[in-house]
Amino acid sequence: MGIEFSESKKQFHLKNDYFSYIMEITEENHLLQVYYGKRLETFQQRLVYPRVDRSSFSPNPYELSNSGFSLDTVLQEFPGYDTGDYREGMVDITYPDGTKATSLSYKEHRISSGKKKLKGLPATYVEANEEADSLEIILTDENRKLEIVLTYTIFKNYSVLTKSVQYRNYGEQAISLNKALSMCLDMPDSDYDLIQMPGAWAKEKQLRRNRLIQGQHVLNSKRGASGVTQQPFLALVSPETTEHSGEVRAFHFVYSGNFTMKVEVDTYEQTRVLAGINEFNFCWQLEPQETFQTPEVVMVYSDQGINGMSQHFHHLYRERLARGGHRDKERPVLINNWESTYFDFNEEKLMKLVIDARAIGVELFVLDDGWFGQRNSDTTSLGDWIENREKLPDGLLGLNKKVEEQQLTFGLWLEPEMISEQSDLFRAHPDWHLHVENYPTSLGRNQLILDFSRKEVREAIMAQLTTILDQVPIRYIKWDMNRNMTEVGSHGRSSKQQQETAHRYILGLYEVLEELTVRYPEILFENCSGGGGRFDPGMCYYMPQSWASDNTDAIERLKIQYSTSMIFPPIMTCAQLSDSPNHQIGRITELETRALVALSANFGLMMNLEEKSAEDLKAIKAYIQWYQDNRQLIQFGSFYRLENPYSGNYGSWMFVDKDRSHAVVMVFQILSQASKPLKKIRLTGLNPTMLYKVEGQQLSGEELMNFGLYLGHRLSGDFTALKLEIKAIKEEQ
Ligand code: DGJ
Repeated sequence: MGIEFSESKKQFHLKNDYFSYIMEITEENHLLQVYYGKRLETFQQRLVYPRVDRSSFSPNPYELSNSGFSLDTVLQEFPGYDTGDYREGMVDITYPDGTKATSLSYKEHRISSGKKKLKGLPATYVEANEEADSLEIILTDENRKLEIVLTYTIFKNYSVLTKSVQYRNYGEQAISLNKALSMCLDMPDSDYDLIQMPGAWAKEKQLRRNRLIQGQHVLNSKRGASGVTQQPFLALVSPETTEHSGEVRAFHFVYSGNFTMKVEVDTYEQTRVLAGINEFNFCWQLEPQETFQTPEVVMVYSDQGINGMSQHFHHLYRERLARGGHRDKERPVLINNWESTYFDFNEEKLMKLVIDARAIGVELFVLDDGWFGQRNSDTTSLGDWIENREKLPDGLLGLNKKVEEQQLTFGLWLEPEMISEQSDLFRAHPDWHLHVENYPTSLGRNQLILDFSRKEVREAIMAQLTTILDQVPIRYIKWDMNRNMTEVGSHGRSSKQQQETAHRYILGLYEVLEELTVRYPEILFENCSGGGGRFDPGMCYYMPQSWASDNTDAIERLKIQYSTSMIFPPIMTCAQLSDSPNHQIGRITELETRALVALSANFGLMMNLEEKSAEDLKAIKAYIQWYQDNRQLIQFGSFYRLENPYSGNYGSWMFVDKDRSHAVVMVFQILSQASKPLKKIRLTGLNPTMLYKVEGQQLSGEELMNFGLYLGHRLSGDFTALKLEIKAIKEEQ
């Protein structure tokens, strides 16, 4: 791994075992993108982009008139604004004279080992300097007194490049950053499929793959959160790319607020990818000598198909995005009371659930919504984080003690960013929510959003939370967030800075999360936003696991978990076994199917145990026991997708442990059919020369991966599932 700069060729070559990333500086100091693809040992060509005159409609920079060089066509690292490139650029800045033209030139660069922290922002990290090298390239627009620092980090052990940008105003007056993106990648061709994950509530991360065509494709969120409707992710893959072969270039934005990801295929069939904070509700006043730091983008290159991409995301996120003591620890099997009680509970009811849960081996009890203020419905009490003594006569402390006596640890639901109009907090501070003065504020689930961009608001909430957490030995927090921003205004902020609110909110949220996770390292945080509404890499930096969806139906979950696994490893993805008929969509499924879907991730229960038959309880106990026995494999093994439930009647996947001696395969049939074709499933990730025991047979890894197993015919009925265990016997000679 390394970063080389050739003085003679004025080229940067970043490479590790997997990929190369090459840029070059022209004689006129333009920084151009040359190559991002499979690792090259060397690169000999210089000034490779042909100078071709594209007519007078593609302007030339003044000093390069009639040279065939136009910013409208070349592959750039940092396209400016209104200076000849009519494609979408990285910036939109209003200068003191009211104009916007911006063009950046190379000034200098610095190469160092390791990776610097991004102040106040989540980011991937290293634990030792040898794990990565970093490059900072400084560009300037001297006329505008604007300095840009492009930061690149290449990791040694992952096929990962990260990019972020700092914007510095070294002029004497403030400038307005109307748009300040994090990364650009220009490619000379456009023969790609675009993979993205649009979604909705209870339908998060739906996988879509379409051919890229000319024009702009915009994936974004204006919700003040990364949101349910798009994941800040996209991948460009060659049309022939499959799960296991072909090239992939993937981009994931490490941020939890408004984002934009754009792919533009230009008139010459070249492709530009841009990512960063959405320009919607964003305008940052950059004062003289101040710097604006953008969040980073994680780029993954794979020439081993989509699965190859996922392996790098999984390892990076598990090992160098998630933090804290829980990162490498097995996660507990929990039970959450939400779907069994909703708001209607008292201590007795909860303790009955706890005692029943203990009997089947559950390790952690999570008290969900409804435990505080007058919270008997979703119309009230957010902001009043004081236990309801009618429901919990001995308070949280008393309940915690009783739960611990049953040998379970205790966890709590919170929604700290929200406020109900019906709350003491609102009565005391009617201007603490995001709103526009003298303008009606929209409601979502009857609630308003606390203005986390304001310090005093954050401090007041922190004071309430720390009062609880200092007193009650809580071991887990489910941090929920159930609506998105509207009428984004911040009381007391100057009119010039109002458009900083949405981003300042996210920075404020990150500050609170940093403080809490540092102060309470023993607490396992689970990120939730009405399900997976803010399940993004920014949140994963603070919270090592996320509730993937409010939809707990096994078949819908099959798809959600399948696409979530593109980027997030199973240990980060929470799945819970729930009742049938399913509470969200009413589907009836067998216990086995529901269990196998939930056991395929970070497993828990959200069901009413009181109503279960002795037979079902016995079965659930066995599932929990199985999970506990195999949790290392599920949570820390390698995960491989086998059958895509979006394109066929089956969904399947498998887990393989580190030394490839133990694997588990899960296969799901969606609908039953007459005269159905046979289904052979080829496994992956095994050791070809190892001999494995599979249901009484001894088969080599090679046979299992190339021939496979006939499995489909063994599934009969709608929504059925099977699990296969594979254990190594010995090495073949
Ligand atoms: C939304 C979450 O996704 C649910 O699991 C539950 O915690 C409710 N909020 C509680 O209001």
